Amino acid sequence: MVDVRERPIGVFDSGFGGLTVMRSLIDLMPDESLVYIGDTGRYPYGNKPADVVRGFAIELANSLVRDHGAKMIVVACNTASSVALDALAASLTVPVIGVIEPGARALARVTHNGKVGVIGTVGTIASRAYDDAIEATGADVVLTSAACPGLVEFVERDQTDGEEVTLLAKRLLSPVREAGVDALLLGCTHYPYLAPVIQRVMGDGVVLVSSANETAFAVRELLESRGLAAPTGSNAERRFFSSGDVDWFATLGRRLLGPELGDVSAWHSGAAS
Ligand code: DGL
Repeated sequence: MVDVRERPIGVFDSGFGGLTVMRSLIDLMPDESLVYIGDTGRYPYGNKPADVVRGFAIELANSLVRDHGAKMIVVACNTASSVALDALAASLTVPVIGVIEPGARALARVTHNGKVGVIGTVGTIASRAYDDAIEATGADVVLTSAACPGLVEFVERDQTDGEEVTLLAKRLLSPVREAGVDALLLGCTHYPYLAPVIQRVMGDGVVLVSSANETAFAVRELLESRGLAAPTGSNAERRFFSSGDVDWFATLGRRLLGPELGDVSAWHSGAAS
C-alpha cells in the first residue's frame, strides 16, 4: 500500500495552459509527484457551454483519481474552475483547488489605485466567477472584465508573439485599458505565455498577475494542513497525458514547461488511461 503522501497531485487543463501552473507546482514542491492531462482533443473550453465543460472536468478529475490515485486535484483551467469547482468538490473523494480564488486574492493585494482588471475566456467572464471571488475578498476595488476569444488559439499553435496576436490583443484589451486598471489578472492559464505582448499593450504601469504561483501556494498550504505533503526526498515523478496529438504535446509542451516534460501518453475520453 503506497503512503498516501507519495501519491501524485492530479492536474488538468484544456491544453497547454495548465503547464503554467505545473511550472509553479514543480518549483515550489519538487518532492511532489504530478500527473497532468491536457485535454487538447476537446480544447478550447472557453467557447463551450458550461454544462459541457463541467462534464469534461468531472471526467478528467475522476480519471486522475481512479487511474492514477491522485491525492488531490488542481483544476489548472479558469474556465473549468469557474463552472465546475462546486460540482467537483461535491463529487470527489479527494480535495480540489481551482485557480480563481488564489488569483483574485493576489489581484486585490497588488493594486494601488483600486482599479483592477481580469481577462479570460468567454466562458470564464460570462460565469462572473471573478466578480464573486473579488467580492469575497472584501477588498474595496472596482473590477473591469474583458473576454478575449482567440488568444488561447495563438498559444496552442505556438504563436506567442508577433503582429497578428498583438493586433488582436490591442482590440480585446481596450476595455481594461480604458478603465485605467493598474493590475490585470491573466484569468486564463494560457495567457502567461502571452505576457510580453499583453504587457506591451497595457504599458509598463500595469502589473500583470498570474494565478499560477498563488495556486501553488494554496496547494502547498492544503497538503501541509491535511498531512498530505510528500516527505522530503520523495522520488517525484511527473507524467503527462494528452487527449489530442501526443507528439505535438511533447514538442510544444517541453518548450513551454521545460525539460520536466518527458514522454506524453494518450488519454482517451470514456476509457481508463
Ligand atoms: N486554459 C484555460 C483557461 O484557463 C482554457 C482555455 C480554453 O480552452 O479555452 O481558461
